[in-house]
Amino acid sequence: MESFRIDGGSARDYAIRVEEVSDITPDLVRTLIEIDLQTFAESTYSPYTAAAFLKCGRVFLLRADDRVIGTCVCMRGWERPNEAMILSMGIRPGWRGRGLGQRFVQGVLDRLTARGLRSCCLLVGRDNRRAVRVYEDVGFRVVEERDIEPQHNDVLCLMRAILHSEDAPVISLT
Ligand SMILES: CC(C)(COP(=O)(O)OP(=O)(O)OC[C@H]1O[C@@H](n2cnc3c(N)ncnc32)[C@H](O)[C@@H]1OP(=O)(O)O)[C@@H](O)C(=O)NCCC(=O)NCCS
Repeated sequence: MESFRIDGGSARDYAIRVEEVSDITPDLVRTLIEIDLQTFAESTYSPYTAAAFLKCGRVFLLRADDRVIGTCVCMRGWERPNEAMILSMGIRPGWRGRGLGQRFVQGVLDRLTARGLRSCCLLVGRDNRRAVRVYEDVGFRVVEERDIEPQHNDVLCLMRAILHSEDAPVISLT
C-alpha cells in the first residue's frame, strides 16, 4: 500500500492499492457500470455482462482509501490461453493525469505475472494518446493496427506486453 497526495496543497494523503476481485456483488456491478460510463462514450457493460466478467473474468480495482477510483477488466485469450486481455480500464475523472494510471496497469501486470500468465494485450484507439503513453510506459508495444469503423477514422491499436519468457514455468490458474 502506498501513500498518495491527490492535491499538493491539501493535507490529505490517500492509501492507494490495487485489489483483485472475483465474485459478483451488487455494489461491484454498479461500480463497474458507473466508472465505465464516466470513461467511455458508449457503455461497455450491462448488469448482465458486468456480472459475467466479475464471475468468469478478472476484475481489478484501484482504491484510494476505501473508495474505488478505477476499474480494470481482464479476460483470458482463446488463441493464446496464457495471454490476458485488458478489456477495459478506466480511472474516475478527478483522479486522472497524476500517475495513477501507470501504477494501476503495473499493479495489474504484476498480479497477472504472479499467476503465470505470459503476456497481456489490449485494444486502444490510436488517438487516445494518454492511454497509449501509459501502456507504453509499462512495456506494451503496438503489434497491429485495425480500422474498425473507417467512416469514423477509428483506428484501433493492438498492444502487447510480454510478462514471461517462453521457457518460464507456467503456474496454472485455479
Ligand atoms: C487512460 C487512463 C487510465 C490513464 O490514467 P492516468 O492516471 O490519467 O494516466 P497517468 O497520469 O498515469 O499517465 C498519463 C501519461 O500520459 C501522458 N499524457 C497525458 N496526456 C497526453 C497526450 N495528450 N499525449 C501524449 N501523452 C499524454 C502523460 O504525460 C503521462 O505520461 P508520462 O508519465 O510518461 O509523463 C485515464 O486517463 C482514463 O481513465 N482515461 C479514460 C479511459 C481510457 O481512455 N481508458 C483506456 C482505454 S482502454
